[in-house]
Amino acid sequence: MRIVILPDAASVSRRAADVFCQLIKELPDAVLGLATGGTPLGTYNELVRRNRAGEISFAEVTTFNLDEYVGLPSNHEQSYHTFMHQNFFTHIDIDVSRCHLPDGEATDLALECQRYEKLIDDAGGIDLQILGIGSDGHIAFNEPGSSLASRTRVKALTQQTRIDNSRFFHALDDVPRVAITMGVGTILEADHIILLATGASKATAVRDFVEGPVSSMVPASALQLHPQVTVVLDSGAAGQLTRREYYDYVEQIQCELESKSGN
Ligand code: GLP
Repeated sequence: MRIVILPDAASVSRRAADVFCQLIKELPDAVLGLATGGTPLGTYNELVRRNRAGEISFAEVTTFNLDEYVGLPSNHEQSYHTFMHQNFFTHIDIDVSRCHLPDGEATDLALECQRYEKLIDDAGGIDLQILGIGSDGHIAFNEPGSSLASRTRVKALTQQTRIDNSRFFHALDDVPRVAITMGVGTILEADHIILLATGASKATAVRDFVEGPVSSMVPASALQLHPQVTVVLDSGAAGQLTRREYYDYVEQIQCELESKSGN
């Protein structure tokens, strides 16, 4: 894992946007895996700005979101459909017919999960997947205890996740109990994964998944098994890492190597 520690959340957003832009410049019809939550919002804002400035185009891009609540209509103010359209898709030159999210209103949820997996396969797989992390180490809605080989499926949310996400709802009781989520195994098939974390509230989860053992109790730790993961942190989220000096040193060398090779 490449661990990049930056001073603040704004720098994290710009770095993540750089990774997206570099890929799309090389591969204009890239397949992007997208995430919701507060963490990637700054990245989306930065990508919108660069799109408006004519620096990048999403015209040929395809996207797949990680997850969606079960039972919320797609036009509900807190559905992930609404989140993505309001915060990203309507502001860029993307073809929304190529923007995919699981259908949390499907009558046959198991079939919907299979359909979603097949759609990703048919698109040739995900080139770049962006992830946030839950305070309990979950990625997408793969809660602690999720199989590290899991595929897209229906998952019950933990009380902690429902409490964390209740800030977006009127009351805790309004937060759905169930979601459709890409599995850990599905996520691990992306060619490149970039995980963002900001703020001290993520510091324990970050330490556990970067420096702890691979364990289904910390689903993000499965990223240790992936050959191309970039973890971009602000200093708050990096606050409990024990090998911080080493990560900074490795990153400095990596940057030197890249500037020599013209990357
Ligand atoms: C939800 C999402 C995750 C996200 C997490 C953290 O549970 N399903 O994909 O990473 O929230 O969100 P935030 O970035 O708001 O802390």
